[in-house]
Amino acid sequence: MKKPTPIDEEIVLDRSKYIESQTDTKGIITFCNDYFAEISGYSVDELIGQPHSIVRHPDMPRVVFKLLWERIQSGKNILAVIKNLAKDGRYYWVFTHFEIVRDLNTKEIVGYKAYRKATSKHIVEVLSPLYKKLVEIETKEGIEASEKYLDKVLKEKGDHITIDNLMEEIHRFY
Ligand SMILES: Cc1cc2nc3c(=O)[nH]c(=O)nc-3n(C[C@H](O)[C@H](O)[C@H](O)COP(=O)(O)O)c2cc1C
Repeated sequence: MKKPTPIDEEIVLDRSKYIESQTDTKGIITFCNDYFAEISGYSVDELIGQPHSIVRHPDMPRVVFKLLWERIQSGKNILAVIKNLAKDGRYYWVFTHFEIVRDLNTKEIVGYKAYRKATSKHIVEVLSPLYKKLVEIETKEGIEASEKYLDKVLKEKGDHITIDNLMEEIHRFY
């Protein structure tokens, strides 16, 4: 599917609704709710079977997804603030909880679930410049350099601060 050209227009989310999806272990969408379809502009049929990167926005740093995948592949939940790209080029920011789906008997990881809701203006104001900087570093020097930069930023915030507890904290307090 052709990637939409991003436009500088935000989609305002309904604060009472969740955008939900589920993927297999490779990130291929296996389920999504109607609100996901409504906001992204794709039909449920268009979304099922597609890689989740269908809504990937070019303003998102690659390192965020790298950390996300490392975490969920090791069986741990994570939350992340993500800017997504709709079919018509508009964007929407979401606060996303990722969960691991396991086979009931073998306990093996069989997929992942994501629950997204509207995020606060404040968190976007804090994260946008950080994401912008990370994308700039990635474009010039690659993902290792941006991961190093992110590590440095997190260390400055305190010991044992991870990207998701930083986001959770900003989200909780503002
Ligand atoms: C359950 C689940 C939900 C995801 N949701 C999103 C999402 O909303 N937006 C997004 O850009 N990537 C999402 N991803 C990550 C994508 O799979 C992918 O790693 C990311 O879009 C970067 O794509 P790329 O590596 O092809 O650039 C999700 C992954 C999983 C497992």
